[in-house]
Amino acid sequence: MTIAPQAEARYAVYPSLRDRVAFVSGGSTGLGAEFVASLAAQGVRVGFADIDAAGAERLLERTGAAGCPKPLFVPADVRDVQQLEAAVAAVAAELGPISILVNNAANDERHDTAAVDEAFWDNGIAVNLRHHFFAIRAVTAGMRELGGGSIINLGSISAHADFVGLPVYIAAKAAIEGMTRTLARELGPDRIRVNCIIPGWVLTEKQLSTWATPETLAKVRQSQSLHDHVMPADVARMVLWLAADDSAMCTGQNWIVDGGWM
Ligand SMILES: NC(=O)c1ccc[n+]([C@@H]2O[C@H](COP(=O)([O-])OP(=O)(O)OC[C@H]3O[C@@H](n4cnc5c(N)ncnc54)[C@H](O)[C@@H]3O)[C@@H](O)[C@H]2O)c1
Repeated sequence: MTIAPQAEARYAVYPSLRDRVAFVSGGSTGLGAEFVASLAAQGVRVGFADIDAAGAERLLERTGAAGCPKPLFVPADVRDVQQLEAAVAAVAAELGPISILVNNAANDERHDTAAVDEAFWDNGIAVNLRHHFFAIRAVTAGMRELGGGSIINLGSISAHADFVGLPVYIAAKAAIEGMTRTLARELGPDRIRVNCIIPGWVLTEKQLSTWATPETLAKVRQSQSLHDHVMPADVARMVLWLAADDSAMCTGQNWIVDGGWM
């Protein structure tokens, strides 16, 4: 028997999410845009930061359905910690205290080990790792006052599978898992949860236009236990569950959404 992809209406609605405030970095396109749209569809007031203003415009055009709050776009480069902190503060000032943080912005551009110089290394760490830490620091005081919160970091299967060609990105993604565990311990007494989602290969528009060929698609399908491709909505549903009170006693963990690849 083939189980068809479920219709939108069959997925969970989380009452605990309604009217909460979320901050999503890198929310203009790709997975981040799916997170913004999915959270807003649950009644979350979402602020998102990105350097891609055109992408943000496209996202805003397709969100804000009747009864769902319109997301708020704050232009910011997450490599600039002051800009990032200002974006977090702007979202809190406009929408209210932030109880959900999704650290999503990244850049997976390929690079040769031999060609990496100090500037490339520093930039790669700034765009893929450093902002997670500073965004977490920027939201924790507000979450403490609220009595808790949910922080969701984005790792990557590339730190676990046999990937080559992007060592700086993979080093950053591996570090996010360690940071998740220690900050979950540190912030747990304040009921602030810190989790890490590890996506497999997710077919965003960028991945489709950059890397997808009949051969790569077939190879990944065969590497997975489930032979359907992972789509952005599959990862967004994990974000929703981790953001909601349904996962109240889950923290410090990796949550793998890879179709059973690892
Ligand atoms: N797509 C996948 O297959 C996959 C697999 C494993 C992990 N991930 C992780 O999931 C997350 C999202 O992946 P994606 O494929 O949607 O990425 P993407 O590259 O398609 O999108 C990243 C978003 O971050 C934004 N961004 C980039 N640099 C920025 C900066 N300096 N300041 C602010 N915003 C910036 C981009 O404009 C874009 O909107 C990332 O953390 C990525 O590492 C993705």
